Amino acid sequence: MFNAILIDKDDRGYRASVQAINEDQLPEGDVTVRVAYSTLNFKDGLAITGSSPVVRKFPMVPGIDLAGTVEASAHADYKVGDAVLLNGWGVGESHWGGLAQKARLQGDWLIPLPKAFTPAQAMAIGTAGYTAMLCILALERNGVTPDQGEILVTGANGGVGSFAIALLSKLGYRVVASTGR
Ligand SMILES: NC(=O)c1ccc[n+]([C@@H]2O[C@H](COP(=O)([O-])OP(=O)(O)OC[C@H]3O[C@@H](n4cnc5c(N)ncnc54)[C@H](OP(=O)(O)O)[C@@H]3O)[C@@H](O)[C@H]2O)c1
Repeated sequence: MFNAILIDKDDRGYRASVQAINEDQLPEGDVTVRVAYSTLNFKDGLAITGSSPVVRKFPMVPGIDLAGTVEASAHADYKVGDAVLLNGWGVGESHWGGLAQKARLQGDWLIPLPKAFTPAQAMAIGTAGYTAMLCILALERNGVTPDQGEILVTGANGGVGSFAIALLSKLGYRVVASTGR
């Protein structure tokens, strides 16, 4: 048994609660991960409160990201004890996610945890930080460099925007932050 947040929707309404779950209830996947940390992403908030149709099927364990240790694996790239990381892939929306002590996932969705980070640090960066870095990599691929002038971050006080400010600033950009607040 392990504990998870479980979201359900039926004639008793939409509800989320912490529940004890049997391992045989886990969805299909070729890697089982003992979850060390997840984040509470904006999307998880929408899923848990039911204020937006984030969850695609019920019951659902929310949590769009996780970091942890491989407990069982039938995937060639991962073995028991490996430290791994996951962001996205519909996890927490259409496949049980990270706000649980265990998750069963497709190994192809996983990333080996970079040696520079502990699982807690990886999840402090979270999917918002991961997304901000993907955006910056895309800017770099398209030839944007610090010497071209100031760089504008919109949605700057948000999850992705605040990471974008920190990352761009560290990379030598002069960042201009835009906020409606
Ligand atoms: N968080 C993630 O992991 C993630 C992953 C992939 C993609 N995304 C996408 O990235 C975007 C930002 O996500 P987030 O998590 O950073 O959201 P967030 O924390 O809610 O921040 C979004 C910010 O956008 C600003 N904003 C809202 N409406 C706006 C408008 N009409 N025009 C200009 N600015 C507006 C708000 O700042 P002000 O109060 O200053 O207006 C808000 O703080 C979203 O489109 C989201 O779907 C997020």
